Amino acid sequence: MAPSVSDIVPPVTDAIADLKLTATKEDKGPSYPFYYPYYDPNEKFPPTQVYEHTDPGAKADRAKPHLLTPETNVTHLSPFLGTEVSGVQISQLSEEGLNELALYAAERKVLIFRNQDFKDIGPDRQIEIAKHFGRIQRHPTSGNVKGYPEFHVVYRGSEHDMLKEIISDERINRTQWHSDVSYEKQPAGTTFFFILDQPAVGGDTLFASQVEAYNRLSPEFKKRLEGLRAQAESSRRRGGVVRREPILTEHPLVRRHPVTGEKALYVNQGFTRRIVGFKTEESEYLLKFLFDHIAKGADFQIRARYEAGTVVVWDNRVTAHSATADFNLGDRRHAVRLTPQAEVPTE
Ligand code: SIN
Repeated sequence: MAPSVSDIVPPVTDAIADLKLTATKEDKGPSYPFYYPYYDPNEKFPPTQVYEHTDPGAKADRAKPHLLTPETNVTHLSPFLGTEVSGVQISQLSEEGLNELALYAAERKVLIFRNQDFKDIGPDRQIEIAKHFGRIQRHPTSGNVKGYPEFHVVYRGSEHDMLKEIISDERINRTQWHSDVSYEKQPAGTTFFFILDQPAVGGDTLFASQVEAYNRLSPEFKKRLEGLRAQAESSRRRGGVVRREPILTEHPLVRRHPVTGEKALYVNQGFTRRIVGFKTEESEYLLKFLFDHIAKGADFQIRARYEAGTVVVWDNRVTAHSATADFNLGDRRHAVRLTPQAEVPTE
């Protein structure tokens, strides 16, 4: 199974390990070189330890008076997920406001914040805000930022097309639905993704509601899924940097959100490998159906489009997503993800 788009990792050649930014007359280079992907082949992390997570959304006022003030504008993109938000700065939210952000992200699944100063507040403050939502996952293989392993850098430009290295031209398209780091014992919850350079057109992120994907199933089919567990795996990739050894983890195939109580499918093509207790063909058959169901559900999907200053906050427990590799490589796409880990998934 192909690895996730979110984990694009080039092989470590000397050229990559020592990746240098080059500016030409035509191309001045990335707007935020500080966040250029960094790979240190000697960087090592210990196995991730389980910790007690309490979701900040559980402490939020359901009316969200600190987030949804009279100055805040919201536009829903679909009944099932996705809301554009403007008129409020994430960087200015109080503790109460951040709790409300966790709750709103869980309810709407994807929030697209416009005109944010988030990219300019510096790495320490960015990390401090994201930490409110859980311990930040340090990615085992992807590009990070020198001195800041909390950042997961997404980069695609003419000098460094990480996406192409992981999803080859053999594929008809490079769509790859996944939920971030779902192979972790405590996978991602409320997740932050801020754009630094966006293409003139294209480069959107597709999102699907895993709650609605579950709701669409018949009661009899839902009963069959009850109690099933699936294995998810992070893989060691083609000689890329490996900071932490790959792990194989079991999670319920349907999980319940701790704050909203909603049930969501928790399988994804990027990382889910097999259904525990099923024979190989049975597992492949059921997973293929579920992967197709999520991918084809255009009536429970949205696209997040990027503008300068956009920050997308999504709840990885109840969504699947995919990058869209449809833009001209002359148009750089540079973004950074902060990935707080949430609770151990439960049914
Ligand atoms: C991600 O998978 O976390 C990044 C999505 C994107 O690049 O659009």
